[in-house]
Amino acid sequence: MVTAIPGPRSEALVEDLARSECPAITARRARRAEEAGVSQDPIVWKRARGANVEDVDGNVYVDLTGAFAVAGIGHGHPRVVEAAREQAETLIHAMGDVYPAEQKIELCRRLSELAPGELSHSILGLSGASAVEAALKTAAVHTGRPGAIAFWGGYHGLNYGALGVTAYRESFRRPFLPQLNQSVRHVPFPDTFRPPFGLAPSTRPEEVGGAVLAHLREMLDGPATASESIGAVVIEPVQGRGGYVEPPPGFLTGLRELCDERGLVLIFDEIYTGFGRTGDLFACDREGVVPDILVVGKAMGGGFPISAAIGTEAVMSSWGLSSGEAVHTSTFLGNPLGCAMAIAALDVVVGEDWPARVRRRGEEIRKRLEVLARRYSSRVGRVRGRGLMLGLEFVADQEARTPDGGLAVALTDFCRRRGYLVLPSGRYGQVLALSPPFVVNDVQWEGFFQVLDEGLKTLTAV
Ligand SMILES: Cc1ncc(COP(=O)(O)O)c(C=O)c1O
Repeated sequence: MVTAIPGPRSEALVEDLARSECPAITARRARRAEEAGVSQDPIVWKRARGANVEDVDGNVYVDLTGAFAVAGIGHGHPRVVEAAREQAETLIHAMGDVYPAEQKIELCRRLSELAPGELSHSILGLSGASAVEAALKTAAVHTGRPGAIAFWGGYHGLNYGALGVTAYRESFRRPFLPQLNQSVRHVPFPDTFRPPFGLAPSTRPEEVGGAVLAHLREMLDGPATASESIGAVVIEPVQGRGGYVEPPPGFLTGLRELCDERGLVLIFDEIYTGFGRTGDLFACDREGVVPDILVVGKAMGGGFPISAAIGTEAVMSSWGLSSGEAVHTSTFLGNPLGCAMAIAALDVVVGEDWPARVRRRGEEIRKRLEVLARRYSSRVGRVRGRGLMLGLEFVADQEARTPDGGLAVALTDFCRRRGYLVLPSGRYGQVLALSPPFVVNDVQWEGFFQVLDEGLKTLTAV
C-alpha cells in the first residue's frame, strides 16, 4: 500500500544525500518544479523483487521502468541471486585480462552463441558507455579512421568517448565540447512522426528512411564533412532514452548496405533493446540486419553492472594479438561475480523464452495504450515503441506535433503517488515511457491502466 510519497525516511535520507553528493546528480525538487510544477523529492529504495519495489518508508510500488530497462526478467530473479551467492562464496574478483576467471570465459562463449550472424568476439565492459567506447575504438583500429556518424536523439552514455556520439540533449555536451571527438557527425534519426528535412508528416515511412540515407551518402561525398576520418556508424535500432523511436522498415538494411559500400563499421547499440526487451532477442533480429559490432549492457547482468561489445572476428582481430599487456582493459574487466550473474540472467531470458512472451504481452499492452491514445487524442501524438518498450508521446498541439514534456513529467508524479513507477523520456521529455520487468502481472497492469486513465483525465482537463 502506498501511503505518503515520499515518506519521512526518504525525505531525511535525500536531505542527507544533498550534503555529500554532487547536486547535479540527484533528481531533486527544484528541477522537477521547473519542468512541470511538480515539487517532490525522490523516494529511496530499500528492496525489490519481481515487478515490485519497496521504499525505505515501507511503500510498495509496481515498477514499470525496470529501473532503466535493466530488470527485464524482474528484480532479484532467484536464479540470478543464487548465482551471485554461490559466486560470492568462491571468487568475487579475479585479474580480468591477465588471470581471468572461468566465468568470464563462459560468458564470452555464451555471448557469441547468442549474438546474431558472425558476431563472435567480445570485449567486456562495466557500463554501457564503456562498451560503446570499446566498439568505437575497435572501429577506429579497424578502419584507421576515428570519426563516426551518429544520430539526433541517440543516447550512448556520458563518458567523454560515448558523449561524443550521444546527441540527446545539447546541455549534456556543451561544457565538454572541446574534449569530444571532433570527427563525429550527427544526422537526423528517421523519425516518421517528426520527419526531418522539412518533409511533411504525411511522408511515407520508407521515404523518410530513404531521405536520411540519401543525406548520409551526400554528406560522405561532401567537401566539408571530414568524411575521410569517418570509420563507423553508430545507431540504436530503436532509440531508448530518445523516446522509443523506431526507424522505418528497410532503414537498417539500407544502413548496412551503405556501410558495406563505404567500408564503414556498423555498430548497433542494443544496450536498451537487447535481451528480449523489444520482443526479439535483439531488436536488429526483426529486420534480420547484423551489425559489425553489437553493444549490450543493462539487462545483461541481471542487475550487475556489466556490458559487452560483441564484434565479428574480422573487426576484432584488427586489434592484433595481445603482446602481454592488453591495450584495452580495466581492473574489473570480466569480474566473476558479474559474469556469473550475467550467465544466469541470459539462461533465464533464453530458457524461459522471454522474447516471444514479451512480444505477445507487448501487443496486448500496445492495444491498451492505443485506446488511451484515442480517448485523449488531442494530447497523445502516438504510441511509440514495441515489445515491452512502449510509450505515449504527448503533444501540446496535435497538428503541429509540438512536443509536450510537462504532461509526461506530471503524469510520472501522478502515477508514483498512486504506486506506479514510470519515467518521462524523449529529447523533450515528451514520452511517458514503460520498460517494465517482463513479469508484471494482469492485476498490476489493470491497476496501472486505471491510474493512467485517471491521470490523463485529471491533467488534460481544461
Ligand atoms: C542505448 C544506450 N546506450 C548506452 C547507454 C549508456 O549506458 P550506461 O548508463 O550504463 O553507461 C544507455 C543508457 O541508458 C543506453 O540506453
